[in-house]
Amino acid sequence: MSQPIRVAVTGAAGNIAYAALFRLASGEIFGPDQPVILSMLEIPPAMGALEGVMMELEDCAFPTLAGMAAYDDAEKAFDGVNWALLIGSRPRGPGMERSDLLLANGPIFVGQGKALNRAADDVRIEVVGNPCNTNCLIASSNSDVPAERFSAMMHLDQNRAQSMLAGKAGVPVADVSCVTIWGNHSANQAPDYGNAKIGGKPAPQVISDTAWFTDSFMPDIQKRGAKVIEARGASSAASAANACLDDVRAFSRPTPEGNWFSSAVVSHGAYGVDEGLIFGMPLRSTGNKDWSVVEGLSMEAPVKAQFDKVLEELRHERDVVKELLKK
Ligand code: NAD
Ligand code: LMR
Repeated sequence: MSQPIRVAVTGAAGNIAYAALFRLASGEIFGPDQPVILSMLEIPPAMGALEGVMMELEDCAFPTLAGMAAYDDAEKAFDGVNWALLIGSRPRGPGMERSDLLLANGPIFVGQGKALNRAADDVRIEVVGNPCNTNCLIASSNSDVPAERFSAMMHLDQNRAQSMLAGKAGVPVADVSCVTIWGNHSANQAPDYGNAKIGGKPAPQVISDTAWFTDSFMPDIQKRGAKVIEARGASSAASAANACLDDVRAFSRPTPEGNWFSSAVVSHGAYGVDEGLIFGMPLRSTGNKDWSVVEGLSMEAPVKAQFDKVLEELRHERDVVKELLKK
């Protein structure tokens, strides 16, 4: 048996965590021979509920679960962890935009960014709590952990796009590859249909109804989170947990040849994005939690127009939280 992987999960008594913790503990994500230790963070009023979650984890008798602990102190929860999944924060309700949560949730990520200095040298951090790109910027800016080790989740949008393209083309989802979601996990994101592939061919060569991309595909992906809230009365949880775990796998394994995945990472200027913004990009992973941007893609005009808009939005969000960013 190898050394256990230590995984911190924040918001551990919440809905997304409830859909993620059991899969992390079961061996599904890191493999059947890889022990996992869960380090769960909550706020004091939720510690009772977290105790119940821990009872259930125990009752699963997962052979790969080598230990678990609950904390209401981020410094303790992040001590020595190899992964930190920052889920804990308030979700939006009907009629809200994710950016309405900026000032409610942003401060959480100041303290957690600092506390991440206690993590293991190889830590990788995935921010899920909304608005995740700017929360990720806040956490990273308050931490000594290299900025490249942080990402914000775009994989849910990628999965939504993949399913929608497969549905329209009448093919299995596995036939869809190279899906990029540029920018922000917000209603202004830029889902890139031009570079997506279906059965190895550019999507517009397979789906002849080109108006569909701009009239349905792009707006439906942008507004999917709100649609789920409207229908369920609560924000997506199982699909969000699934996307978070997809990202853990995407960064942990070499990206298959000819494909890429979408995640929001620190910009080093690729595609003209301001240095330091946390921007959704097409990435390839080496398999040891490092990544590189897939460069040289050209965008269809409607995608480029949306890319410019979402870049402006992220600049604006950065301005709104400037007091929370370390000078
Ligand atoms: P939830 O309300 O069910 O759970 C959130 C949990 O976080 C609660 O148990 C709460 O006590 C805890 N929490 C609050 N502040 C905390 C802190 N400082 N430290 C630790 N824990 C804290 O919400 P949820 O449905 O699990 O959603 C969590 C977040 O994820 C929301 O912000 C939601 O908008 C976001 N989300 C993001 C995506 C994405 O694609 N990036 C998708 C879905 C949801
Ligand atoms: C989603 O995309 O489903 C989540 O970000 C929840 C939300 O507020 O839309």
